[in-house]
Amino acid sequence: MGIQSELEKIRNEFEGALMRAGSLKDIEDIKVKYLGRKGDLTGILKAVATLPKEERREAGKQANLLKNELTEKLGTFTSGKKTEMSDKREALDVTMPGISSSRGTLHPLTQVMEKINDIFVSLGFSIAEGPEIESEFYNFEALNIPLDHPSRDAFDTFYVDEKHLLRSHTSNVQIHVMEKKDPPVQVIMPGRVYRPDAVDASHSFMFHQVEGLMVDKDVTFADLKGVLSVFCKSIFGENIKMRLRPHFFPFTEPSAEVDISCIICGGKGCRVCSGNGWLEILGAGMVNPKVFKSVGYDPDKYTGFAFGMGVERIAMLLYGIEDIRLFYENDVRFLKQFD
Ligand code: DAH
Repeated sequence: MGIQSELEKIRNEFEGALMRAGSLKDIEDIKVKYLGRKGDLTGILKAVATLPKEERREAGKQANLLKNELTEKLGTFTSGKKTEMSDKREALDVTMPGISSSRGTLHPLTQVMEKINDIFVSLGFSIAEGPEIESEFYNFEALNIPLDHPSRDAFDTFYVDEKHLLRSHTSNVQIHVMEKKDPPVQVIMPGRVYRPDAVDASHSFMFHQVEGLMVDKDVTFADLKGVLSVFCKSIFGENIKMRLRPHFFPFTEPSAEVDISCIICGGKGCRVCSGNGWLEILGAGMVNPKVFKSVGYDPDKYTGFAFGMGVERIAMLLYGIEDIRLFYENDVRFLKQFD
């Protein structure tokens, strides 16, 4: 067969294939078959080189012309096809059910922390944060925790170096806030805290606290009780009862631990409340005058209250979670329950 008729044959086949092409994949196949490195036309172009000199020139010209023609036709066809396909895509059936993608949610601890924050913000508190790596002064001394206090023992605190540690409570932020601002002060201070506790169902070496502080002229224990009672009812429900038990904290005087009536049994006594009907949820008290002195506040002029609560503990009670480790494993089957 002469070169001319071979070229003619390729053109016909090419056009037939193009007419049948229905997808971009078909177009790609055509390109490979006719114009690719191992394609029919390239084969001919190679064969041209073996022709006698007098024929070579004309045959090469014809083959190249065909190559340009096919390339152009393929280009026009492809862009037409693409437009057609995108037109099809626009003609969407909006009544189709659609494909839903899975959406992330806030971690349950973040959700509970935000709930706690919102309640105090609604009572006029603002939010402050402080450092997690702290000096002994802010974590202990300024809070009237003396050198020989058991909680300063290396076993109770992660030390970073001789003088610095991972804060063991959020009470350190009270000191930073009071150093920076004169009364009145009304803040809550959420954040992470660290203690070298052995991990079990109710202990973790890292957990979260929300600290509270209110200082002004004439702040009384009644104000503390009022604020905490609004908080307990807002987060655990209107029917919850609250009681204060005398306790000791170096940074408050007097100090109390705050219990709520058991949210599982309503106070009758069950496994969760160890049968006594009450659950301890936070520590609180009137700011010790020694703390005021360490930040330069005049204890004769100002009084204040402070409190601190564990976020994990509150989340566990709210959702009936029995193992604190579930919060940190981040198993999606657990997390998905807190949409
Ligand atoms: N810092 C205490 C703790 O980690 C909690 C606490 C108790 C904070 C009484 C206070 C407070 O501000 O007044 O156990």
